[in-house]
Amino acid sequence: MSSTETALQVLPPVTPPAVAAVLEQLDTWAVAGEAAEFPYAAVLGHLRSVGKHFLSAELLDRLAEIRDVLTARSKQPFPARPDDSPATLREFLDVVLDKHDSRYDYPSYTALSLLAPPAPADWHEARRARDEMLLLLLADLIRFEQQALSDTPADPHGMPPQPELVGKRTRLAVRVMEPAALRVLPPGTVDAAAVAAVPGRTPGGPLAADVLRAATPHQALVLSASIQPVCVLHDEYLFLRTLQSFETTFTFMSAALATAVRRLADDRPQEAADHVGTVADTLKESLPLFSLLATMRPEAFRTFREFTEGASAIQSAGYKTFESLCSTPHLARLASPAYTSVPEVRERVVGGQPTVQGTWHDLIAEHRLDAAGDAALRAAADRLESTHQRWKQTHYRLAVRMIGERTGTGYTEGVPYLAEVLGNRLFPAADRHGALVS
Ligand code: HEM
Repeated sequence: MSSTETALQVLPPVTPPAVAAVLEQLDTWAVAGEAAEFPYAAVLGHLRSVGKHFLSAELLDRLAEIRDVLTARSKQPFPARPDDSPATLREFLDVVLDKHDSRYDYPSYTALSLLAPPAPADWHEARRARDEMLLLLLADLIRFEQQALSDTPADPHGMPPQPELVGKRTRLAVRVMEPAALRVLPPGTVDAAAVAAVPGRTPGGPLAADVLRAATPHQALVLSASIQPVCVLHDEYLFLRTLQSFETTFTFMSAALATAVRRLADDRPQEAADHVGTVADTLKESLPLFSLLATMRPEAFRTFREFTEGASAIQSAGYKTFESLCSTPHLARLASPAYTSVPEVRERVVGGQPTVQGTWHDLIAEHRLDAAGDAALRAAADRLESTHQRWKQTHYRLAVRMIGERTGTGYTEGVPYLAEVLGNRLFPAADRHGALVS
């Protein structure tokens, strides 16, 4: 994508192209080669008008051929292009082709490879990256919801929402956006005093427009490319953006907890406690995402989840990384689908990944922690624990409402699995022999 393109140009066309028109555009692009822009908008417009589950074999085969060519070329040296790199296109095609390749899972459903570059090592930078991505995701959601009320609604458009529902979703999205906006948007974009008085009242349309206007062409491309619903129902857009917003939050939480572990190992418990406290605050800020998702209509969800079998957030590496950086999960959990669903995280844990609680207890055992440091850590860990318990309880209630007695798409029993994990703790009580430095 050239730097002259704007965010709006990568949005799919309002009248979706039929498969023949998409194939024609792909042929034209293939002849012109790298000099031409890949027809993302046409592919996405068509995909969203039929649902990824229903793409024709002809189109899928053509896209697979294009990916093969790109893969073969990637083995030869060629000049890198900024932003719209062949790597982005390959990742995009991998997401489109996940079902075709029989690789469909939660990361590919939510297009995480497109959205989630590795978290910056510096935790301030990691939080900025999370805030910026969260704002983009939710601004785009507000834009999509509001467009559904216009004369030119965008796909997926099945079961369109009523104006009251769009208003409610906008207010709830704004509630999650406000704290991040206060941190990263230019001063004055959001009124800090008004937010402190009554959260969620910032006008959503203008806030979303401000955020999207400032998006770089690459961010706009990624934003658009990361919405690949399996079906044609409007509410799936909300589902995808909510999952992605949580994922970007888990990525930050993991980066901050890894920093906390390093600070502890360096005998800097107060700083470690600050990081754990920030993780608790960020998780708390994201809780209204569940209220936002609770506006999804259960009948819409039950329809599109027929095509999401095999993709479940039990496969969220971000969530399990954050959890396992607090303390090492017990053996039964490590052996259960909770961790067998995320083999790379499980491997790190089994390989002895250091944790906040483990490092903290080592300091105590080695008489390297004073009472003030211990108290600060205890307070921060308690805050994170109670916020996480609220997260799990809200998630559980949402699942009861949305799926009742149905099994999970991650092949568990569903709600009974979630009831069981409510008893787990991030920082389980352990014997701590009074060895603090006085
Ligand atoms: C309609 C909304 C939702 C329903 C019905 C739902 C349902 C479920 C179910 C049944 C499971 C058990 C695994 C399985 O078989 O799939 C699960 C696990 C999980 N879900 Fe959700 N979920 C919803 C929304 C979310 C959201 C928005 C997130 C945020 C990323 C999320 C994160 C998780 C995580 C991390 C697990 C694994 C928990 C663990 O292993 O301890 N879920 N969910």
